[in-house]
Amino acid sequence: MHLPALVLIGTIATVQAGVTLEKRAVTLFTPNGKFDYQLGGAYTPPSGTVTVVRDRTASVAPNLYNICYINAFQTQPNENDFWKTNHDEVLLRNSTGQYFIDPGWPDEIQFNTTTAQNRNTIAGVLNGWIDDCATKGFKGIEPDNLDTFTRSDNLLTRENNFALAALIATHAHNANLAIAQKNLADEAKAAAGFDFAIAEECQAETECEEYTAVYGDFVLEIEYTDRDDPEQIFQDVCDARGTEYSIILRDRFLVTPSEPDYHYEEC
Ligand SMILES: *[C@@H]1O[C@H](CO)[C@@H](O)[C@H](O)[C@H]1NC(C)=O
Ligand SMILES: *[C@@H]1O[C@H](CO)[C@@H](O)[C@H](O)[C@H]1NC(C)=O
Repeated sequence: MHLPALVLIGTIATVQAGVTLEKRAVTLFTPNGKFDYQLGGAYTPPSGTVTVVRDRTASVAPNLYNICYINAFQTQPNENDFWKTNHDEVLLRNSTGQYFIDPGWPDEIQFNTTTAQNRNTIAGVLNGWIDDCATKGFKGIEPDNLDTFTRSDNLLTRENNFALAALIATHAHNANLAIAQKNLADEAKAAAGFDFAIAEECQAETECEEYTAVYGDFVLEIEYTDRDDPEQIFQDVCDARGTEYSIILRDRFLVTPSEPDYHYEEC
């Protein structure tokens, strides 16, 4: 069995009289370990898997490095009522005053990260989820979708999304959890507080090096079968970087093995 590498994060507790300095530590996954991405439903991972991503509502896979998926920059459709009822002011509105639905995801409303008060409100909820992930035994967090500002009709900014990311990264680190940069290759920056990258389709989009330049081999890459010539894309990326970090080819909706569209390959 692979042992996760221990990585010390350079943040130190605020020094106050009588309070001992503590070094905070997060554990990262083993680079290039066998990996699965189970957002379409949790199932027993393929034999030999050491790293798995699951939704925050799922349980952890025993004895694996588990990463907890949360929607951090937009709603999940089944949580729209929660947000409307409790924190309607953080739901982005369009020019006609209606909820701003992310063009990429039906019924997912983007979060309005434009004010510090909104960011604190959003982080207040997300940080509770992060704590739940820690309690369940997850070791890392995948916050989706850092890149909402690129699909927001310029209602959101990069700076404000990264300011929200910084709030939850700090909270994750205080809970001894690592946190991922998800996508947005051209903004890959360790300074944002992220510890590793989860990169979708970086081979298909020719941007994998932008992640490795910042995160080294702490990258988890997913290519999808619905692209043109996916097996060629997968072969190319395996040839180029398959011995360096974890790379898989999956069906777009990440269904479970009991469904006909299920596809899993790793290199
Ligand atoms: C974003 O939130 C702020 C503060 O609640 C509000 O003033 C602003 O109108 C909102 N913007 C959009 C586009 O929803
Ligand atoms: C505003 O968003 C609603 C969906 O919430 C959509 O039906 C409407 O077309 C949008 N209006 C504009 C001007 O984009």
